[in-house]
Amino acid sequence: MKDQMKKNKWGMETLKLSTLIAEDEINKRVASLGAELTKKFKDKPLVAICVLKGSVMFFADLIRHIDTDVTCEFLGVSSYNNAMKSSGEIKVTLDLSTPVEDKHVLLVEDIVDTGLTMNYLVQMLQARKPKSISTIALLHKPEAVQMPLKLDHVGFEIANEFVVGYGLDYQGYYRNLPFIAQVQNIQ
Ligand code: IMP
Repeated sequence: MKDQMKKNKWGMETLKLSTLIAEDEINKRVASLGAELTKKFKDKPLVAICVLKGSVMFFADLIRHIDTDVTCEFLGVSSYNNAMKSSGEIKVTLDLSTPVEDKHVLLVEDIVDTGLTMNYLVQMLQARKPKSISTIALLHKPEAVQMPLKLDHVGFEIANEFVVGYGLDYQGYYRNLPFIAQVQNIQ
């Protein structure tokens, strides 16, 4: 630990943050990813799947830039147990509300770190026989990936550092930052 972590009066650890990706940079990239997906899914109805909770901001912004018929589904997944390293054990805490058989599916992730979550979810969805599966992550840490991965669209590649904001959390907090920040006072 570089600095002693301070807690505020509610017990939240206060992180030292520096902006890694500013709000307007995120907005521009999300709009261009939406345009990419609009081309790809032109005249193809799409089931967009939001992986909770981290993808919620990215998902909400992205689907507004996809100009085709889109339905929304939500998958609850937990793998970090409030820590900064993946536990490697993925738990589905909320499943889809409708079958995806014979549908074009877009799996929307906030970040691909080790790749375990994305891999697990792609396999789980493949078993449900969709017409196609496309994957998108706003952030990708190529140095951290532990397995070959089906990642079709990426917003930004970043270094192997812990980040928060725009949906990404530390111990449940910091999701509401409108930008992506690197944490300075943890290793
Ligand atoms: P993976 O299974 O290791 O690829 O991790 C995927 C999940 O871990 C993501 O969906 C995030 O919820 C979480 N995660 C990975 N890296 C970070 C980070 O830098 N900050 C916050 N959450 C992260």
